[in-house]
Amino acid sequence: MSPDLAEAPSFPERRTCPYHPPESYKQIAERGPLNKVTLWNGRQVWLVTGYAEGRKLLADPRLSADRQQEQYPTMARHLQAQAARKLVLVGEDPPLHDKHRRLLNPEFSLKRARAMHEGIQAIIDELIDNILAIGPGADLVTEYALPIPSRVMSQLVGVPYEDREFFQSATAGVMQARDEHQSQQAGTELAQYLAKLVDVNLVRPGEGVIGRLAEHVHSGELTRDELAQLAMVLMIAGLETTSSMIPLGVITLLEHPDQLEALTSGAVPVPTAVEELLRFLAVTDFAAVRWVTDDIEIAGHTIRAKDGIVVSSTMVNRDPAVHDDPHAFDIARGNRQHLTFGYGIHQCLGQNLARLQLQLAYQTLFRRIPGLGLGIPSEEIRMRTTGTMQGVERLPVVW
Ligand code: HEM
Repeated sequence: MSPDLAEAPSFPERRTCPYHPPESYKQIAERGPLNKVTLWNGRQVWLVTGYAEGRKLLADPRLSADRQQEQYPTMARHLQAQAARKLVLVGEDPPLHDKHRRLLNPEFSLKRARAMHEGIQAIIDELIDNILAIGPGADLVTEYALPIPSRVMSQLVGVPYEDREFFQSATAGVMQARDEHQSQQAGTELAQYLAKLVDVNLVRPGEGVIGRLAEHVHSGELTRDELAQLAMVLMIAGLETTSSMIPLGVITLLEHPDQLEALTSGAVPVPTAVEELLRFLAVTDFAAVRWVTDDIEIAGHTIRAKDGIVVSSTMVNRDPAVHDDPHAFDIARGNRQHLTFGYGIHQCLGQNLARLQLQLAYQTLFRRIPGLGLGIPSEEIRMRTTGTMQGVERLPVVW
């Protein structure tokens, strides 16, 4: 290892276990809350592994999320594609960010998520009916984890569910592409598809975010392209995260039978268990990527203007200053302090909806298929090797 790499180890590293961080992450975090790491392209950035420091930095207006600037650290080769850099909202700073976020707020309140409870439960029950009919074995990714957020997001955004094969592969294409070209192609096709859908809604407004915001295009508050881009961010953010998280949670629960028993017996409320799964799994691995507009002093370090910052949700969520025995999976923990949904102005817009889908997905699966088990030995479960989101390609289960 070069002296530089010893000082600034490479990041991110792949998880081999669905729920334990790579050893190198633990070693980095042991050195202190802020450390230099080296990205795929040789660039060194600050990796934040301290919970307090992560929150403090993400609330600091000297951090920019603007992905169009060269200072923005790209976390993998394929994410250099314009389609991944151009993302509205998540890649914008105020005031444009605030304007776009305000326009989307109505769909994402806690009240709205609660109103979706029955509808999501019906979707999940129908999927389980189907799984039971094709069983006694199924791939939980294709039959459950992907269709749940696909149906929910298509209704919410106003995208026809019949087009699911296209939008599932396009959203995955942007985030999990092998290279820049593939990511760009998937992003362009998705943007064109959504722009056409916006055009249809401009003539006759349909359901969902696109239908509602069509009138803002007529009034000149939004452009057609902006609305298509907002829809694109929602589809990517809503599908990739939740569909990756559902199988990881199922594996984690099956691998910890005492915890699963505490969940299914009702000893621990489902929302408490899901909060621990969110903390423990940190499915995006890093919650936020930023660059700094002015020097910042923090934890004895000076972060210089133009430096890059990556907040590791995996390690921030396991900060021993915040959680006792942080590497233990304990669904009764009841400590909701984690940064899996980020923090500050970009904190996850869909978190109420994500929590609800996860709660209903785990609760219903284990209630309706009580004998559920892994269809392959756990050592044979392969983590996805593309993209930066943690997930599995397939999850064979039996009952
Ligand atoms: C387990 C599920 C999910 C996880 C772990 C997750 C995680 C995150 C994180 C870490 C951020 C902050 C990114 C940053 O600061 O740069 C974020 C932002 C965002 N998420 Fe989620 N998310 C999840 C589900 C969802 C869902 C279901 C939706 C849509 C319905 C959604 C929509 C968004 C949007 C639109 C943003 C950008 C917000 C902004 O920039 O103001 N997410 N999410």
